[in-house]
Amino acid sequence: MEATELSIRSVTTDDVAAVNELWQEAGMALYPSSGDVADEITSKMRRDPDLFLVGELEGKVVATVMGTWDGHRGRIKRLAVAGAHRRSGFGAMVTDELEKRFLARGITKLRLEVWADNVGGLAFWERLGYEHQADIRYFTRNLDDSKDPC
Ligand SMILES: CC(C)(COP(=O)(O)OP(=O)(O)OC[C@H]1O[C@@H](n2cnc3c(N)ncnc32)[C@H](O)[C@@H]1OP(=O)(O)O)[C@@H](O)C(=O)NCCC(=O)NCCS
Repeated sequence: MEATELSIRSVTTDDVAAVNELWQEAGMALYPSSGDVADEITSKMRRDPDLFLVGELEGKVVATVMGTWDGHRGRIKRLAVAGAHRRSGFGAMVTDELEKRFLARGITKLRLEVWADNVGGLAFWERLGYEHQADIRYFTRNLDDSKDPC
């Protein structure tokens, strides 16, 4: 990982277009269940704005990561780095900042999901010291008629 100047801060509503663009480019456009990044950002800002981070390089959003908390465990979601800036340590930097913010809230147990075919994502989390739980099967269900990923 090379050291580069990345500025990390909490997301704001001014970031909607940039975050949308980044997630589209990263192939994550299907991930928001509402399909609406603006809703996702504004609702996150109401609940726990300190846990949705953007990384900026020269004023441009090039990285995102989001944390959620269920009262017991933290979850990491929406990790993305712009294609042109991958393997520069930015994914690790925003994750490190999110971990610090979890710790500041007393949250020490973290979980996350990675698609099985996401070779880069799997390698990333293993490199950061996250443990692969091969004995867990993940179940989902939509309680409405939508076909959105849960
Ligand atoms: C996964 C992702 C966020 C990684 O971001 P990144 O900024 O490139 O990651 P970093 O530079 O911080 O990588 C840290 C270490 O993780 C490992 N790593 C990261 N990407 C990797 C890849 N594609 N293949 C193998 N190892 C990888 C490496 O060990 C790397 O250290 P190194 O570059 O010194 O070898 C980025 O590839 C991405 O946005 N992918 C598309 C969206 C996505 O899959 N998100 C994750 C969902 S779980």
